[in-house]
Amino acid sequence: MCGIVGYLGNKDATKVLIDGLSKLEYRGYDSAGIAIMNEGELSVRKRKGRLANLEEQLESNPVSGSIGIGHTRWATHGEPSDRNSHPHTNTKGTIAVVHNGIIENYMVLREWLSSEGYKFQSETDTEVIPQLVDYYYEGNLLEAVIKAVEKMHGSYALGVVSKDEPDKMIAVRKDSPLIVGIGEKESFIASDIPAVLNYTRDVYLLEDNEFVLIDKDGIKLFDENMDVIDKEVFHVTWNADAAEKGGYDTFMLKEIYEQPKAIKDTLTSRVIKGELIKLDSIKITKEQLENIDKIYIVACGTAYNAGVVGKYVIESLAKIPVEVDIASEFRYRDPFITDKTLLIVISQSGETADTMAAVRLAKSKNARVLAITNVVGSSVAREAEDVLYTWAGPEIAVASTKAYTTMLIALYMIALYFAEQKGSIREKEIEKIKSGLLDLSEKTAEVLSDTDAIEEFAKEVAKHKDVFFLGRGLDFAIAMEASLKLKEISYIHSEAYAGGELKHGTIALIEEGTAVIALTTQSALFEKMVSNIKEVTTRGANVLAISKEGYEEIQKSVDTTIYIPKVRSILAPVLSVIPLQLLAYYVAVEKGCDVDKPRNLAKSVTVE
Ligand code: F6R
Repeated sequence: MCGIVGYLGNKDATKVLIDGLSKLEYRGYDSAGIAIMNEGELSVRKRKGRLANLEEQLESNPVSGSIGIGHTRWATHGEPSDRNSHPHTNTKGTIAVVHNGIIENYMVLREWLSSEGYKFQSETDTEVIPQLVDYYYEGNLLEAVIKAVEKMHGSYALGVVSKDEPDKMIAVRKDSPLIVGIGEKESFIASDIPAVLNYTRDVYLLEDNEFVLIDKDGIKLFDENMDVIDKEVFHVTWNADAAEKGGYDTFMLKEIYEQPKAIKDTLTSRVIKGELIKLDSIKITKEQLENIDKIYIVACGTAYNAGVVGKYVIESLAKIPVEVDIASEFRYRDPFITDKTLLIVISQSGETADTMAAVRLAKSKNARVLAITNVVGSSVAREAEDVLYTWAGPEIAVASTKAYTTMLIALYMIALYFAEQKGSIREKEIEKIKSGLLDLSEKTAEVLSDTDAIEEFAKEVAKHKDVFFLGRGLDFAIAMEASLKLKEISYIHSEAYAGGELKHGTIALIEEGTAVIALTTQSALFEKMVSNIKEVTTRGANVLAISKEGYEEIQKSVDTTIYIPKVRSILAPVLSVIPLQLLAYYVAVEKGCDVDKPRNLAKSVTVE
């Protein structure tokens, strides 16, 4: 989820690109770079870290021209470093490319291009692109880009410039956003509208496989057969702040709606039907896995709640005992750790102090550490032996949403990977779950397409002081996350309870009108949950059920029901959490709370 920008016109391209990148920095801040074309020369400047580092470099080593491309990076393939920063060039340094997305088959392309004599400098997937364009270049840059993308699998938004055609810029997209800004004798490309808003409000919103040729005569759009496309101009009426949020009112809502893509990206190239799971940076061997007699999952907050799902899933699929611990407790309770222990830590930021302390404690006792994190090169990723990145893109809102669902995806992949290695469940069963995983992105989009009922229910919940979430099994894990989400952004007190546990004390709090949200997505536990629901409705509770298609009989026992699409029980958490994220969101909005920056909270907790 990087930011890209390009400029061709009469202004100083460096200034325009830096200005554009400053509006895109929220999309990634691992590094920034530009490539500028000036009097037939192609100059690249790039730096690890924030845009300010690149600006510093440009002060001591300036470059100017009227055509250029720029990039702000959110690392996926290759740690944040100067070398891995964009733009990337071909071996001869004549073609420069900025890229947002993931090239799934980059390893195969890299091997083939290396055998053709191309030399690679970085660990990125992107570097194959300028090399491929070079390979196909026969005097027409647009044609070479069309041929190059034919070879690429995955997602991309690209900006390309070449020394051989110094007055042009080419762009194209597939499954990654890209817009073209239409100015007065100047044109722009950008991954997001805010980057061009200082210059123009007229843009083309590109569709997949639409190619853009920009030169001094303006902008031309082509399809892959090089036939010209006519496209309507979109006039932007939002202000810059709304544009940064992609037209959504808040980052949290934007990130909730980004989940179908984040889920798809996280599965990309790792889960393929009929093939063994491939987890890039997990190096644990079959023998080492056989030696593991216990797994601890350790994390904080939402990441801990993901870990609770992980326990159920790993125990059920990989047949290894799992304990889940809160990181701040784990480190001080003298846990029993040996060289047969595997510690799985989960952390969106990869910088949480308590989680880091757990990593160090486990390592000091010779345990192996596997990290699930969203930030490439973060402390957790650097110190763990094995790493699985969630490819959710930067999460800006304090309340975690897309990081949570992609953590779940990572845990499913780990459980299946272990199951495959150990042969702990039948291959047929593994294949069925894989196929279910691959359907989740689409089903998530389905859940997000109709939110009227949840918005309505939120108005009711906003009037309450206390809310109870009930669930059994995996539904209990989701109840915990839903409860945390509600309290952190709406400041309403809420508790999550295992359905069967309520009657051991907490049921004393249920009275006429108490708001209860009950999850009933686990087929094997459905009837038991209905009994638990009856226990609270007979005491006057108003119940919203989150259920799944096929279980419509729940309607008889509750006041309102939201259905998620039909899904295997083990995968239901990814879908059932979404209406509950939205519930927390709409309750907070109804109460006038600052959704993106709830009181007393910080995005990354780097103190004990
Ligand atoms: C809640 C939330 C926090 C984090 C927790 C751990 O929405 O975001 O509970 O999950 O602070 O943060 P990471 O995952 O960065 O270690």
